[in-house]
Amino acid sequence: SMQRFSWTVRVWDQDGKPSARSCAAFFETGLLRRSDWKGRWIGSSLAGGPRTSVPSPHIRKSFRLSSKPESARLYVAVLGAYQAFVNGVRAGDAELAPGWTDFRRRVRYQTFDVTAMTKRGENVVGILLGDGWYCGRVGWLDRQMYGDRPKALAQLAIRFKDGRRTTVVTDASWKCRFGPLLSADIIRGEAYDARLDLGAWSSPGHDDSKWGPVEAFEFPKGLELEAQDGPDIRRSLEMRTIADPVEVKGSKGRAWIFDLGQNMTGRVRIKVRGKRGETVRIRHAEALAGDGSLYTANLRSASAEDLYTLRGGGFETWEPAFTFHGFRYVELSGVSRKPDPDAVTGVVLGTAMPFTGEFECSDPQVNKLHSNIAWSWRGNSLDVPTDCPQRDERLGWTGDALNFVQTACYLSGSVPFFRKWLADMRDAQGPRGEIPAVVPNVDVGVGRDGGPAWADAAVVVPWTAYLHSGDLRLIDENYRMMTRYMRWVASVSPGCIRGDSGNKAAWQGFGDWLAQDGSGKTGGGTPKDLIGTAFYARCAGIMADSAAALGKTADAERYSGLREEVKKAFCGRFVAPDGSVAGGTQTAAVLALAFGLMPEGLRSAVAAWLVRDIEGRGMHLSTGFVGTPLLPFVLSDAGRDDVAYALLLQKTAPSWLYPVEHGATTIWERWDGWTGEKGFQDPGMNSFNHYSFGAVGAWLYSHVAGIRPDPAEPGYKRVVFRPRPGGGLTHAGAAIETPFGRASAEWRIGNGVFRLEVEVPLNSAGRVFMPGRPEPVEVGSGKHVFEGHAA
Ligand code: BGC
Repeated sequence: SMQRFSWTVRVWDQDGKPSARSCAAFFETGLLRRSDWKGRWIGSSLAGGPRTSVPSPHIRKSFRLSSKPESARLYVAVLGAYQAFVNGVRAGDAELAPGWTDFRRRVRYQTFDVTAMTKRGENVVGILLGDGWYCGRVGWLDRQMYGDRPKALAQLAIRFKDGRRTTVVTDASWKCRFGPLLSADIIRGEAYDARLDLGAWSSPGHDDSKWGPVEAFEFPKGLELEAQDGPDIRRSLEMRTIADPVEVKGSKGRAWIFDLGQNMTGRVRIKVRGKRGETVRIRHAEALAGDGSLYTANLRSASAEDLYTLRGGGFETWEPAFTFHGFRYVELSGVSRKPDPDAVTGVVLGTAMPFTGEFECSDPQVNKLHSNIAWSWRGNSLDVPTDCPQRDERLGWTGDALNFVQTACYLSGSVPFFRKWLADMRDAQGPRGEIPAVVPNVDVGVGRDGGPAWADAAVVVPWTAYLHSGDLRLIDENYRMMTRYMRWVASVSPGCIRGDSGNKAAWQGFGDWLAQDGSGKTGGGTPKDLIGTAFYARCAGIMADSAAALGKTADAERYSGLREEVKKAFCGRFVAPDGSVAGGTQTAAVLALAFGLMPEGLRSAVAAWLVRDIEGRGMHLSTGFVGTPLLPFVLSDAGRDDVAYALLLQKTAPSWLYPVEHGATTIWERWDGWTGEKGFQDPGMNSFNHYSFGAVGAWLYSHVAGIRPDPAEPGYKRVVFRPRPGGGLTHAGAAIETPFGRASAEWRIGNGVFRLEVEVPLNSAGRVFMPGRPEPVEVGSGKHVFEGHAA
């Protein structure tokens, strides 16, 4: 524990000549054993209840040092959320740390180098505690899911020049006080009374004689402390309003609506003036109602409201600490004077991962679609991949992540993010190997088994992230979970049929969620046992590949055999001799094709049927969560890029561009979230920031621009370039950050010439398929240009 290791790097070139050594870099180990933590868990003596919140406690410790430390490390574990300060300076810039894990089992602690903040004489460590996911509301459930109040375990390890060491730890000698943060809840929002400001409470010299004692607690049973090794949630961008605030009639006097121009996840910083004691009410919404007021019905019980009570005298600036909202519009009321346009700044929050994916083509609406997809990913990746960021839900729905993981891998450096979530998934796995519908697991009313196309994220997510990164840890760390999961699926799938309605051992699942072909059923018209069995086969296939990647040959063979068995069962049960697939839905056909489940001779028959069905609907899809992500890929594989493009460019609902036509800035949950005829869909389930249908983003990168990893050499050791021009586009291009560096492809059609330029990163290779030429060209790293006749 607390050891520093340093290293230098040198490289040898193609002639075996070594470079100079780099300067030294280092890492430090954290507190590796429980016994390294010398303090106690502490918090305030007030707990609140399942529906009652209490103010955020400030805790502090003042101590003296005989000289300036040579090194100081602050280790902080918090059940809740926190901001830590040393001598008035904030440690780090993480928001809502430590994020969300199953706090019954695991909490990640953070380490800060606070050497520069410490000094000789009096020093202070202060921690502001919030409820976070630990004891605040999660989804539509009551407060206190994991515990009754926030608690901190912290340790400041100091080393002086002469080798002496000292440690300051949380214990009963710390002091506690409530201040201006009257309530702070992720779902309910925040209330702050600036009149109760504590001043420089975490600085030396602050008079804490009126502060009370903290309460100390036993170490929670079964809890593991773990150093955080992935990215934090941070502020990533600031958004300005795009127009002057518009005055509307508020419930209590004048109110002004600000438009940030972008549906986003985060909160606002306000800059306002007013009388002491006046309370500014800040409401958030994704959309406006017909009369120009905020539309908040779709937020359900999430109040999406922050309150700030003014200190009075001059401009005051404030931003909440422990909440976030999903919104584009902000309403301010409670101030008598019209606020300035810069009274509201949108602060975007998200996991700090690099958003490196770039896509651009000649159709501005498709570019907007790409932007909307990226924004939905930005806003639904706060430590956990969530369905939506705004209503009283915001849960780690496994099915949604399964749909989107491939697109996420194109858009951002998301491997550490998914590695963390897969650890959450291991925590969430049930005793028989089940994987729940949401991870971290909370009771959403469907039992421990998330069902087909949701729970299968346990297999699909590690494999997909591995394919895009080559990081074998994704498979290695999760292999046990994956095999336990497969055993569970096998145990509830007699005769290899999964999800039979007569089989009470397992749940049938959500079906093809929000499909348009289910005569009003949210689960669509695709038979659930067909979805279940198709995903069973798909997972068996991935398991075979995963086992092979780990060198587990026997497992690989066993799973290949299983895949064949399940495929046989699938054909026997769901495929008729003429090639039609049970259910007669687009998704049924898509699954059979996408997962390679059709008997050889019948593939083209079902592909032709699929195209006819799309044509019969006036070039519209009817697929839901399950079919949509696979649909364009299936059409391309069947040689029907033309149909895939027709769907991509379709402007009437259901389609990807319908929301774009109607001003969407993120991906809607439903194809018909708003229509000219019906207005807003059922407010009980109508998010305007749901990434699932945005899974078409992967096809934009892999097929329109044409960049893909080679499954035979995961992690872009070889980049496959295979652009599919179509849809009347005259150019398209994309760039991604691979483990080897940037890879890009850009094509252009002009004067009858198709020109493709690709960029292959160093130490990687490229395989280029020009349109209409079956034989690829192999290239090395660097830029390459190809030309051919435009079709
Ligand atoms: C969520 C979805 C989720 C679904 C389960 C909804 O409430 O928002 O995205 O996958 O439930 O079918």
